[in-house]
Amino acid sequence: MKVLGINGSHRRDGNTHLMLGKALEVCERNGFDTEQVNLADLELGYCTVCDACKSEFTCSLEDDVMGVLEKMASADAILVATPVYFGGVTGRLRTLFDRTLPLRRNGLMLSGKLGAALAVGGSRNGGQEMSIQQIHAWMLIQEMAIVGDMKTAHFGGIATAHKPATVEADETGMNTVLNTAENICRRLK
Ligand SMILES: Cc1cc2nc3c(=O)[nH]c(=O)nc-3n(C[C@H](O)[C@H](O)[C@H](O)COP(=O)(O)O)c2cc1C
Repeated sequence: MKVLGINGSHRRDGNTHLMLGKALEVCERNGFDTEQVNLADLELGYCTVCDACKSEFTCSLEDDVMGVLEKMASADAILVATPVYFGGVTGRLRTLFDRTLPLRRNGLMLSGKLGAALAVGGSRNGGQEMSIQQIHAWMLIQEMAIVGDMKTAHFGGIATAHKPATVEADETGMNTVLNTAENICRRLK
């Protein structure tokens, strides 16, 4: 079984990458295959609402998105991670969500898959919960089954890191990230 991680950061090797990497390590230790997709590495255009996806699983844009959608469709669980940008998810992640319309329109291809959200912000109450709610909304509209963090028992992984590569120093936040990954594994099993 496979857990796919989506890193919505505009910075490839930032706190989001580190945070998601730690979560995926938990999944590997539990015996699952993992892969991290970094949106910063990809060509990702806006949905043009051309409706090509209305009748078949396709997209008229020739960028990297269909490859990501195929990875989503073959995953058993999807961990979506974002830095907080102005109180919400990044523009890159929002753009990917819009582009997942072919998955919804062609038999709800993510229906029943597990999903969990992770957010890291520079401030302690900088919008992590709102970012997670935006990710959860996307998951619900794709008919996914949402998992939160067990033990700490809230909305998913919520971390604070103001400077680059410092997220691991937020012990309380990282616990919620690792618990979320453990909970995904528990539910997959
Ligand atoms: C454009 C922009 C907007 C941001 N807005 C917020 C915000 O609203 N709240 C917050 O806590 N942090 C905010 N931050 C800080 C980042 O969320 C934080 O530095 C995070 O660790 C960056 O993750 P990354 O290293 O993966 O890029 C913002 C950063 C940028 C670049």
